Amino acid sequence: MTARCWPALCFVLLSGCAAGPSADRLAQPPQPSRVAWPGVRSAPPPDARMEGAMGDLLASMTAEEKVAQMIQPDVASVTPDDVRRYRFGSILGNSAPNNNETGPASDYLKLADRMWDAAMDASDGKHHIPMLWGTDAVHGHSNIVGATLFPHNIGLGAARNPELIRRIGRITALEVAVTGIDWTFAPTLAVVRDDRWGRTYEGYSEDPGIVRDYAGAMIEGLQGRPGRPDFLGPARVLATAKHFVGDGGTLNGKDQGDNPSSPEGLRDIHGAGYPPAVQAGVQTVMASFSSVRGQKMHTNRELLTNALKGDMNFDGLLVGDWNGHGQVPGCTNTSCAAAINAGLDMFMAPDSWKGLFESTVAQVRSGEIPIVRIDDAVRRILRVKMRAGLFAKGRPSSRPFAGRYDLLGAAAHRAVAREAVRQSLVLLKNRRRLLPLAANARVLVAGDGADNIPKQSGGWTLTWQGTGTINQDFPNAQSIYAGIRESVRRGGGSATLSPNGRFTRRPDVAIVVFGEDPYAEGEGDRATVEYRPGDKKDLALLRRLKAANIPVVSIFLSGRPLWVNPEINASDAFIAAFLPGSEGGGVADLLFRAPGGEIRHDFRGRLSFSWPRWPHQSPLNRGDPGYDPQFAYGYGLSYARPGDVPQLPELHSPGERDRAR
Ligand code: NOJ
Repeated sequence: MTARCWPALCFVLLSGCAAGPSADRLAQPPQPSRVAWPGVRSAPPPDARMEGAMGDLLASMTAEEKVAQMIQPDVASVTPDDVRRYRFGSILGNSAPNNNETGPASDYLKLADRMWDAAMDASDGKHHIPMLWGTDAVHGHSNIVGATLFPHNIGLGAARNPELIRRIGRITALEVAVTGIDWTFAPTLAVVRDDRWGRTYEGYSEDPGIVRDYAGAMIEGLQGRPGRPDFLGPARVLATAKHFVGDGGTLNGKDQGDNPSSPEGLRDIHGAGYPPAVQAGVQTVMASFSSVRGQKMHTNRELLTNALKGDMNFDGLLVGDWNGHGQVPGCTNTSCAAAINAGLDMFMAPDSWKGLFESTVAQVRSGEIPIVRIDDAVRRILRVKMRAGLFAKGRPSSRPFAGRYDLLGAAAHRAVAREAVRQSLVLLKNRRRLLPLAANARVLVAGDGADNIPKQSGGWTLTWQGTGTINQDFPNAQSIYAGIRESVRRGGGSATLSPNGRFTRRPDVAIVVFGEDPYAEGEGDRATVEYRPGDKKDLALLRRLKAANIPVVSIFLSGRPLWVNPEINASDAFIAAFLPGSEGGGVADLLFRAPGGEIRHDFRGRLSFSWPRWPHQSPLNRGDPGYDPQFAYGYGLSYARPGDVPQLPELHSPGERDRAR
């Protein structure tokens, strides 16, 4: 082993690699000016027996076998025969089995078995190392038909409830285990500072405090607590802290852009979730597509190796993002020694795996990538697999919860999701205490979001963008309209669905559900935070109802705070519902009184993002100089704590307002 090491790192090998996992031995000597990250301890502590077994396995592997462990193709571009031939360490299920995104959950388990059998085939004398299957279970097991869909993280941030987050993690893990999958690429720990970013809703907050409080809770929910018997047990899955680091702070909110923060700002704001994540035992971290001060994160050795693996003692595996290495100057999708040398342990190489495998093997042979770095990466991958019990778990379908499709969208799981909806809604306006409504109200339910489960669920729902699906694709879900109907019927009232708001019989009240259509990642980047510039059809609907003297309650679905002053003015009550997911009934729980007149549930959501006063007011974050939001961070009315909202400015800028005076 030493004979094959890169000369400059031989001292590292001789002085420490045999002693165990500590990657900080691979870190560069600290620069005098560098900013140190918190010296946390990763969990669980190294296990000498496991480390010994890993060392033995590693010593018997060929360079090709090692490199294959470091490559993660996507299921759409790899066959079981490819897996048998190359023995990849992992596959990514971003695409659906058979390319059928609305296919049954059983397709996942079947494919997991086929991939497992291929990876474990011992007939050719190669090592058979169990493979990790990773998926984006980002708001529940959100690629799977019938799974419970929790509110997206922006709504969970408004709930301010780490204990709820822990329960959501536990349920998500269990539903993922049903499909034989081992690993979720969640939670996102972005601290989102510019809401024009298309991934704003994946973040819990603009404030590092909430992200810090939630990181460990979600990770322990998904993985279990280190040291407890169920840590990474059969009902748990591996979590990923992503995207390391600075994804939420790119200039102008541009997806995959550049974060100009100072080293201290990067650590204290954008990096706030990582020390608690490492302490909670997160086993994987994903590198961000974005750059920090001009340098792409996929090759940022200072942050990947020195800060994460060195200062924070992270001893799990660091995975790249979808060909993110190919964006680095000097690299391509099929070649990037610099990423491995900077500290990446596994390439996410959906369709580029073949060329990447070949070039990486060649770079190991030429010494461009030191074997000591490869050994460190593979050791980390094997460590995570051993901790996850993969060597003992057996075929995916043989595991205790595999195939228990009754657990997907189980009543108890949906009840927690509904509770999360209740806790995540923020009441922005409630003129003359219109809410709560009488249990027996005659309600007109309008707007294109009223009976639209894809729209209330947002991106990362069955499909990447969350588009192309219909209510029938969600057997274990309820639209907001269906929840309202259920509630008023029980109370002796009625609900009439009319997306365009036309009616024949005059209602007591109109509930209008409208907002952003689903999007994900850069597709959701916007130039301003104005809601639908140039398309004011929802506003026209609200105004029409108001002109008819019908009290109007607006339920606003969105992945971020948006400038909606005209829509708020045209509404008597206005609720920021964010992207609530499968449990539309949670909305009705807050809107209606019980038949006896008492309040069933009060609002408790508080904004975890500042709400803009102007369309161009971005970035807008608590603590900014001259902070002047329409609704401040932490704002949220309730029945117990009512408040008045005056007529809001409808002009587009302070300048326009001043000129109009
Ligand atoms: C790209 C996204 O940035 C990341 O969040 C996700 O986990 C991977 N693709 C896998 O789908």
